[in-house]
Amino acid sequence: MGSEKEKAVEFKIKRFDPERNKRYLSTYKVPILTGMTILDALLYIKDNLDGTLTFRHSCRMGQCGSCGILANGKPMLACYTQVLQLGVDVLEIEPLPNLPVIKDLVVDFHPFFEKFVKIKPILIRAEEELRKPTEFTQMPSDLKKYWDESICIKCSLCYGSCPAAIDMKFLGPSSLTTNYRFIVDTRDDGLSERLKTASETIWLCTSCSSCTLSCPKEIDCATVLDNERGLIVEEGVLVPRTAKDVLTSAFKYHNPVRMSPGKRTDWSKGLEIKELPMVEKTDVLYFVGCLPSYDARNQEIAKSIAQIFRKIDVNFATLGNEEWCCGDHILRLGEKGLFEMLAEHNASLFKKYGFNRIITISPHCYHTFKNDKPYTDIGLNVQHYTQFISEAIKNGRLRPVKAIKKKVTYHDPCFLGKRSGIYDEPREILKSIPGLELVEMGRSKENSFCCGGGAGRIWTEEATPENRPCVNRTKEALELGVEVIATACPFCVTALEDAVKVLDAEDKIVVKDVSELLREAL
Ligand code: FES
Repeated sequence: MGSEKEKAVEFKIKRFDPERNKRYLSTYKVPILTGMTILDALLYIKDNLDGTLTFRHSCRMGQCGSCGILANGKPMLACYTQVLQLGVDVLEIEPLPNLPVIKDLVVDFHPFFEKFVKIKPILIRAEEELRKPTEFTQMPSDLKKYWDESICIKCSLCYGSCPAAIDMKFLGPSSLTTNYRFIVDTRDDGLSERLKTASETIWLCTSCSSCTLSCPKEIDCATVLDNERGLIVEEGVLVPRTAKDVLTSAFKYHNPVRMSPGKRTDWSKGLEIKELPMVEKTDVLYFVGCLPSYDARNQEIAKSIAQIFRKIDVNFATLGNEEWCCGDHILRLGEKGLFEMLAEHNASLFKKYGFNRIITISPHCYHTFKNDKPYTDIGLNVQHYTQFISEAIKNGRLRPVKAIKKKVTYHDPCFLGKRSGIYDEPREILKSIPGLELVEMGRSKENSFCCGGGAGRIWTEEATPENRPCVNRTKEALELGVEVIATACPFCVTALEDAVKVLDAEDKIVVKDVSELLREAL
């Protein structure tokens, strides 16, 4: 180990001793050379420092899927990850979550593989057809349809990072992706059986994208699951009543919350906010979204942001009652046709009125305007409000002056963080508030844990408290001893506030949008 590139890295390994039923921590200093993987380092520890350390591996080349671990909170294959590339001096290594631990870093894969048995990872064909080999011929173009889904190595990293998988009922990203692989395989005759199996639990998926981000083979499981839900809705297979209600409401009222379209601007009464149908041109189009328009709690966020805009003389207007749901949750729920109807309406207004940029409250509106057709066809200049406001703070147009002497943690909304890469701006706003102490949760930024509200689950939630992601997340904040969970999404606010009530913790912790804390500090 005499290389110039050698660096000592501290390995803190969270272990489990089944004989004493005890969890404990072991720390080792490991000399790391260029090219050494986490698995190499674990083998070094076992050979040189502690022969009792137990972990699983086989192929050492990212193929067998047996060496998954959490490294500094992120699911990884130990044999696939070079230590020096992580750029850290300390590495915390833990077994993968959502699976029972057998010993140290070795988890029991049985619950994970049982999900694959349920989806039948073999071609479903009638017996007599199986005997006709020529029927199995496929063209290369057919292979392309499911090639990406076929390269899954069943390592369970996606399952370990999945917020929905805290509920054992959920089939999980990899098995649902494998299910889809057979759905699009022209040789498979099990379409209705496969859609029925998927429809039983796919609604627990929140589209948070943790699975896509953790996959060592870069399979976009989140998009595959969106497509699978789309097929379920298209074929009319067992859509839960709660999801149907959301879709019906979005069709009838142009919002998912069964409110009259004529009441969309009620939140702004007394604030004299300009509406584009009347003024025709503005600098900023303030896209309010459904929850901040209709839900009493979230109307406070719409007001906060409008007041902050006023403070810095932003020339802004809304679409008034002409604004319709952006459609993001509808698209994630699989109703592509309905999404297009909503989006085409909004897009036609965007083309009709003059403005320089759109600012959204919800990360869901932001994400769909940035990524989904027909919005992307217009070339919109979209910002989430945290981007716009943090810019104003940076260039001195806005200066929080009143101290908020509170310990605050920030919960990353998945559609703002993991799906859009916006992690710093909300934190910069919070750090600009005098007296406010920002403390990070163990799971933050790209390793953040979803509130459980995405893909329409905010309206369809039926899990027991211990299986709800928002309850799991709020417990994490409570353990940190903070007084406030700040976030920047109406759906996160709703889900986390609900969890605070479920946990009977209203006297210990409150949930605030970043804009509400900033308004208090101005
Ligand atoms: Fe086989 Fe890592 S040892 S994937």
